[in-house]
Amino acid sequence: MTNLMHSPMKKGRERLSSVLLLPLPARVDDTWRHVSDWWRVSDLTPAPAGSELSPVQGTAGLPLLGHTVDYIRFGSDFTRARYERFGPVSWMGAFGTQMVIVAGPEATQEALTTKAKSLSQDGWTDLIDAFFHRGLMLMSFDEHKMHRRIMQEAFTRVRLAGYVAQLGPTLEASVPGWPVDTPTRLYPLLKGLTLDVATQVFMAGRGGSEDTTAINEAFVATVRAASSIVRIPLPGTRWRAGVRGRALLEDYFARHLPAARNGHGDDLFSGLCDARTPEGEAFSDQDVINHMIFLMMAAHDTSTITTVAAAYFLAKHPEWQDRARAESDRLGEGPLDIDELESLSTIDLVIKETLRLVAPVPIVMRKATEDLAIAGHHIPKGTLVAVAPAVNHFDRSCWTEPDAFDPDRFSDERREGHTHRFGWIPFGGGAHKCIGLHFGTLEVKAILHHMLREYTWTVPDNYEARWDNTSLPIPVDGLPITLTRR
Ligand code: HEM
Repeated sequence: MTNLMHSPMKKGRERLSSVLLLPLPARVDDTWRHVSDWWRVSDLTPAPAGSELSPVQGTAGLPLLGHTVDYIRFGSDFTRARYERFGPVSWMGAFGTQMVIVAGPEATQEALTTKAKSLSQDGWTDLIDAFFHRGLMLMSFDEHKMHRRIMQEAFTRVRLAGYVAQLGPTLEASVPGWPVDTPTRLYPLLKGLTLDVATQVFMAGRGGSEDTTAINEAFVATVRAASSIVRIPLPGTRWRAGVRGRALLEDYFARHLPAARNGHGDDLFSGLCDARTPEGEAFSDQDVINHMIFLMMAAHDTSTITTVAAAYFLAKHPEWQDRARAESDRLGEGPLDIDELESLSTIDLVIKETLRLVAPVPIVMRKATEDLAIAGHHIPKGTLVAVAPAVNHFDRSCWTEPDAFDPDRFSDERREGHTHRFGWIPFGGGAHKCIGLHFGTLEVKAILHHMLREYTWTVPDNYEARWDNTSLPIPVDGLPITLTRR
């Protein structure tokens, strides 16, 4: 299986933003708060006369850029600071437009459930439709419901068990070969690994190594393009590479579709071809292609970020690394099946706490299809709305010492994750809640299990990870850890 780590296209591909972020402070600090107080606070629009609603307050930030740089630099620390200053509904200038931020357990619940019928997925479509056209997350309302019911059939427990069976051999072929006894950037290693997992579990490696290399490169181009700053296909831009990557992926899936339809295999591609609701609804060929391209993206970065962040916390807290390893050792040699993976309860606590502290999808985008009110604030039709689940992960009404790494808070005795239904929502909530949450968790568990069996790992005592939030949060420096073979 081709690993992008060894591909020439990997060379020199650091995010420019990551390099620029390194000298800046990692967290929102008093100086930043002081400077941000200079921006003039204004109403997004007046609330309708005679209504009991309040206008949404916020700040525009810099001309054109708005608060884009603040968000890239601080991520959910920034949205937390907005929540503390303005409450659950505020607005900001960012990415050349104005957007409302909704945060806090109550307001989030309202946006994702009771008011969801007034908020479409066009908030996502505006950003990523060129590359992830007609992916499930980009569909709204009745059409979304119908597609989700079909897709659900590719995520039953029986199908998941089949996907998990294909994870083991890919991990066994890769994890033991990682560099030891020297600081190694874990993020690119894991990114290559999860890409290999995706091509195996999702497509059963169809097309051989030549196809796989081209597919991996095309896929990386589409993901990179989604966060590009120049958003037209000018020559030499990420956007253009993404558009070409999308065309290549469409062609690849179209070529292999007849075999996947007839093969009834264990991979996700076959799963989507075979998926039928009890009423007999199924995906068209074009639906299968569109969903596959989106699913690869949805599964890949999120699992990589969760694994790299969990490995980081395990390096910072060796007592948890030892505890998790002892559990893995009890299961012994060989790849694990779904039941065995589910039995790893310490890794489970660690993953939950990791998803709380570093939510891989810190905001979910929506667009108001009509005027609506959230937490008593007037949001006019057409407004871009960023719902910020990651803010809830630090809300003091739900969590004790929210900034501390404390996986036991999820134990049956403490159950802090259940204080509010929308207190812990790394997989979102409501109709669009992540369909791959079980598979994603199983994949992260399987990778960590193989790492724990093979190595111990450390970071220097004073090392603190920093995250670049240009798109989803990734470690600015690739997260150097030192692996030691056991
Ligand atoms: C740790 C890993 C993951 C995290 C944190 C995560 C997070 C999320 C979040 C927050 C959403 C909601 C988006 C919204 O409300 O607009 C979502 C949706 C989605 N995720 Fe995941 N995800 C993960 C893994 C996966 C995997 C492994 C797959 C597929 C195999 C997947 C497929 C999807 C799909 C298809 C949607 C759209 C669901 C819909 O619109 O009905 N995700 N994910």
